[in-house]
Amino acid sequence: MALIHGGQLQQVAKQYNIPAENWLDLSTGIAPFSYPIPSIPEKVYQSLPQTSSDLKTAAKRYYNADNLLVTNGSQAIIKLLPTLWRKKNPLSTTVYLPEQGYKEHALAWQTAGFTVYWYKNELLEQEPIENNTVLVIINPNNPTGQLYSQSTLIKYQEKLEKSNGLLVIDEAFIDVVSPSHSMSHTINSNSNTINNTLILRSFGKFFGLAGIRIGFLIGSETWIEKFNDQLGPWQVNGPAQFIAQSALSDYQWHEQQKQKLQLLSADLRTILTKSIPSEYINKITGTDLFQTVYFTESTETKSRAENYYASLCQQAVYARLTDDKQALRFGLAKKNQHERLKNALLNCY
Ligand SMILES: Cc1ncc(COP(=O)(O)O)c(C=O)c1O
Repeated sequence: MALIHGGQLQQVAKQYNIPAENWLDLSTGIAPFSYPIPSIPEKVYQSLPQTSSDLKTAAKRYYNADNLLVTNGSQAIIKLLPTLWRKKNPLSTTVYLPEQGYKEHALAWQTAGFTVYWYKNELLEQEPIENNTVLVIINPNNPTGQLYSQSTLIKYQEKLEKSNGLLVIDEAFIDVVSPSHSMSHTINSNSNTINNTLILRSFGKFFGLAGIRIGFLIGSETWIEKFNDQLGPWQVNGPAQFIAQSALSDYQWHEQQKQKLQLLSADLRTILTKSIPSEYINKITGTDLFQTVYFTESTETKSRAENYYASLCQQAVYARLTDDKQALRFGLAKKNQHERLKNALLNCY
């Protein structure tokens, strides 16, 4: 069964009978400014795409990772992981997943027959972790923005290492977190012993290039080899590799992008706070790539978030209604879109 995600503009445009080009699409956490596409030599299109060693070098430096695999987006790893983990540890049957978060993780584990336990935003330190358990943490979480400290994650890593478990950290949105909370260095320093942690990195969000489909898996050499064997050759097309290598190496652009996103994220928060009545807002949380409004409960049959979602759609503004229908996640709007967003929100009540 296909899940609902942000970015399904064609479908929503059809549903509301408004041409797709008329919409303000804020339904994803993808940066609204993308890395400028460099000129790509024709040869890159003509050759079969072996993994580029220049790309690997650039990625290892950017992600601070000794061992990584270039993949067709981190989604490719999410899908394959349960099967590979089951082979490695046939005694493992349970997985802990965040109650709110990217639901493709749950779909993959459930499809492979694992029992899912949902944990709340605050993962309790004393949560009992049984032997052979898998723990998936999205850091920072999408859509809640919850950020786990390295010390908490290291405690889980140690617990799971001792109990034959697996820690999966999805760092899809971590590029905008400063200083970085990434756990990749914990695998580097112990590459022979830390076999129980896998880190997923998305390229498309921070670099604003989700369409080229590229991502990275960071893990021990053994894990990287296993995934590589399963995925086979030519996972990522040559032009995508060429663009990613250039983008990952451009440290000046990274800094400019971080600053731009930080400003737009603060603007978005201000717009949301000022254009939605305060009594409707429970809290606003997020990262520098999105902001999520949690609404207060309403006495109507539909939640406030659902009503806002529908009313925004009628005005051709597309936000992401969370799966529990209690919140709306907004991607960053560019400056010249701010007035339109403000007006649409003011028209909602
Ligand atoms: C938390 C999270 N992880 C992973 C992904 C997959 O992204 P990609 O396959 O582009 O790396 C997404 C996509 O939205 C996401 O939100």
